[in-house]
Amino acid sequence: MAKPILITGASSGIGYELAKVCAAHHHDLVLIARREERLLELKAELEAAHGVLVSTYRGDLTDADTRQQFFDWTEFKGITPYALINNAGFGDLTSFVESGWEKQNAMLQLNIVALTHLSRLYLPKMIAQGQGRILNVASTAAFLPGPYMAVYYASKAYVLSFTHAIAAELEGTGVTATALCPGPTQSEFQERAEVKDVKLFEGNLPTSADVALYAYNAMEKGQRTAVHGTTNKILSLATRLLPRKNLSDVAKGFQKPA
Ligand SMILES: NC(=O)c1ccc[n+]([C@@H]2O[C@H](COP(=O)([O-])OP(=O)(O)OC[C@H]3O[C@@H](n4cnc5c(N)ncnc54)[C@H](OP(=O)(O)O)[C@@H]3O)[C@@H](O)[C@H]2O)c1
Repeated sequence: MAKPILITGASSGIGYELAKVCAAHHHDLVLIARREERLLELKAELEAAHGVLVSTYRGDLTDADTRQQFFDWTEFKGITPYALINNAGFGDLTSFVESGWEKQNAMLQLNIVALTHLSRLYLPKMIAQGQGRILNVASTAAFLPGPYMAVYYASKAYVLSFTHAIAAELEGTGVTATALCPGPTQSEFQERAEVKDVKLFEGNLPTSADVALYAYNAMEKGQRTAVHGTTNKILSLATRLLPRKNLSDVAKGFQKPA
């Protein structure tokens, strides 16, 4: 395979658009999500448009066995990724005590554990080949506490911190790690997280295609943090100046469920 890129959550939104951008840059792809029919449609489109090789895998990444089986399957196929894009993730707008543990646990498993597990599985081979990229999709939610989306915001703070730490460890190996921090973006996220009616998601949101192109370039440059959009960049800097209490109060105002 030509500089293959593994993308989690490529069946919609940012991951779907990242697959398109990577294929346009002549990378072969390995795509994983639960809705394999969508991945197969994307495979047909990208192989026809760009002449790249696209492999698909149906799997629920909240499950540790599935993650290991996915890794073993790529090993069997002789695939060492040039890049691993840990994009799959979801949120939920509900107060912490009203949200069910099953959903919260699945969010922790997907947003944190799967991203960490896949990085741990693939990084040794990427280091051995002397080049590679990790792109972990965090969020501007990583910069502040998020009342009514407490677990989601905290999970993204983990992604940002983890990515910076491994990026520092990886210096000199030829492998870089980038934390992508999009702000609210058009995708299926809003519907799944039930955030459509909150202030934060009002207005003209950037498309997943905009974010994906920005993300690909940041990953290639080996940037450690990539905050999408000027307003998001300014807001993420501002979060460093305000006390946490003020930050949570502001976020609470923006996100209070209708
Ligand atoms: N949209 C935003 O406003 C926004 C802002 C900041 C950060 N983000 C982050 O961007 C990333 C992509 O989200 P998106 O906005 O593109 O949302 P999306 O359209 O809902 O896409 C989420 C992707 O994750 C996959 N996924 C969900 N649960 C999975 C599971 N258990 N196992 C395997 N794959 C799973 C979904 O595929 P299947 O359902 O087919 O499995 C889908 O392909 C997430 O990490 C999200 O937190 C989004």
